[in-house]
Amino acid sequence: MTEEQKAPQITVLDAGGQYCHLIARKIRELGVSAEVRPSDTPAAELAGRKGIVISGGPASVYEAGSPRIDPRILHLPGAAVLGICYGLQIMAHELGGEVIRGEKGEYGMAVLRTVRSHPLLSGLNGETRVWMSHRDRVEAPPPDFISIAVTKECPVAAMAHTSLPLFGLQFHPEVVHTEHGKEIYSNFLFRICGCERDWDPRGRVPQIEADIRRIAGDRNVFFFVSGGVDSTVAFTLCLRALGPERVYGVYVDTGLMREGETEFVENVFAKLGATQFHVEDAGARFLGALEGVTEPEEKRKRIGEEFVAVQERILGSGDFLSGRWILGQGTIYPDTIESGGTAKADVIKTHHNRVAGIQMLIDAGRIVEPLSSFYKDEVRQAGDELGIPREFLDRHPFPGPGLAIRCLCSESEAPVDRVKDGWILPIRSVGVQGDSRSYRQVLLIDGAPGDPGLHERATTLVNREVRVNRVIVRASGAAPETLRRTRGTVTKDRLARLRAADAVVRQLAAEHDFDHGIWQFPVILIPIGAADRPDSIVLRPVHSVDGMTAESVSIPAPLMTAFCQRLLALPGIAAVFHDLTHKPPGTIEWE
Ligand code: XMP
Repeated sequence: MTEEQKAPQITVLDAGGQYCHLIARKIRELGVSAEVRPSDTPAAELAGRKGIVISGGPASVYEAGSPRIDPRILHLPGAAVLGICYGLQIMAHELGGEVIRGEKGEYGMAVLRTVRSHPLLSGLNGETRVWMSHRDRVEAPPPDFISIAVTKECPVAAMAHTSLPLFGLQFHPEVVHTEHGKEIYSNFLFRICGCERDWDPRGRVPQIEADIRRIAGDRNVFFFVSGGVDSTVAFTLCLRALGPERVYGVYVDTGLMREGETEFVENVFAKLGATQFHVEDAGARFLGALEGVTEPEEKRKRIGEEFVAVQERILGSGDFLSGRWILGQGTIYPDTIESGGTAKADVIKTHHNRVAGIQMLIDAGRIVEPLSSFYKDEVRQAGDELGIPREFLDRHPFPGPGLAIRCLCSESEAPVDRVKDGWILPIRSVGVQGDSRSYRQVLLIDGAPGDPGLHERATTLVNREVRVNRVIVRASGAAPETLRRTRGTVTKDRLARLRAADAVVRQLAAEHDFDHGIWQFPVILIPIGAADRPDSIVLRPVHSVDGMTAESVSIPAPLMTAFCQRLLALPGIAAVFHDLTHKPPGTIEWE
């Protein structure tokens, strides 16, 4: 957001719910400008808003330290206020209603029955399905409020003030499972708040380019690009705004990339018109840093440190730290929010390392982040408008540490362990259980990979067998009783083996049109072998919306057959497995 833009029409106050960004995105999808702010933002900073939405959150209004609002927002001239879930409860609590602590709560689908006609629920006739996720509930609305809809468990599933523009919903209209969620937001925005349609990420490209020119002044911009969508779109915006001679991009080839990746990225940047684009070949350094390391967090740490060293060296080698340059970054909106309660205490995986030189530039304000008000889908729309090929914009996310975290390591040999439900493989992978990291073994079960009941069985087993956080099934290859753990680290040979397998999977998935509908398709090399073949391959296609949670996806039988045939023809591959684990309890990547 730049200071020249006018204030958005709607502010979503983040009370710690995973849903607050979803709410802002839904509102923008309806063509209305919306931002996310911490729940306790002072009312004075929200003057001029047409509407305020207070999001849901995991807390109870009775808990010490639970998110609070400035009560003056409930009387802000010209602004209607809609509380969702916890937002409804805090509104009721502030205004003298009765919020009771729930024992069991209500989670999942519920039938909502409208008991009074009201503009907020216009278009909802009789009964409709809504998504509920709450423990506490409002038993009696505050004075001058009336309940306008109920569910079986909930006497105040929707409430409205009789004269002021104050409203609350216990359910989540932003979630796809709520049948008429979009109509409810549309009613709120257009019938109640009187919003105009003022948000279209496409139309904003010229304004962003003007902002880049203003921020850069007569300075040049340099980027570390990753080949991902965000940094590429941000780079392209700067290229258009300032011209190719003023925008410099460096791509660090870690040697941990997929097959053809570096050439692909070079090609894309050439087509975009970048003339100052440099590939730093650092493969040997990264491989050296990973020598003999087997622990996932240690691997991530070494890779992070190596990134820092390479970036420092590049920064020091030019005059980038002089006053003639500023840093460009592909930061997007969710990364910029100082959130009320969404900060996670437990580190599941280490993602970022800060380079001192970069920190210095950030501290000095010598930075341009053209996408800092956009969500991912809006970045793609802007990229589309800039003429970046769709094939590039729709690429699956790929982790910074690359294939290294898909190449599991082991120091010694060990047998697999026969148990009642299958075999425990003596290798460990990372999982997330109750917001905490777990690092446990893998259960291999018997079954036909196409069996639709397998995922459910996997979920039951992972809950039952405390030694594991992941369940896989064998698709083809060596019989389980012949398998053993082998010795292996991140070496040139094993990386080549994984890269070849990954390329085969990518090619076949594209041919079978399988990669369109899914979020990501990691291919993992595990040190589980038989006879003279030391490794095996795990296929992990997942559905996800934001990577925070994910569902394991079934692989159609003909595609699975093709995968197995081609993968087992590669040297060194003993067996092919399919990962059946959802996230949670298993993370998307194995390390
Ligand atoms: P997990 O494995 O934690 O992954 O379920 C969630 C999403 O994050 C990606 N990921 C990373 N991305 N650097 C990145 O840029 C990393 O270190 C990293 N680790 C995981 C992962 O691919 C998935 O999309």
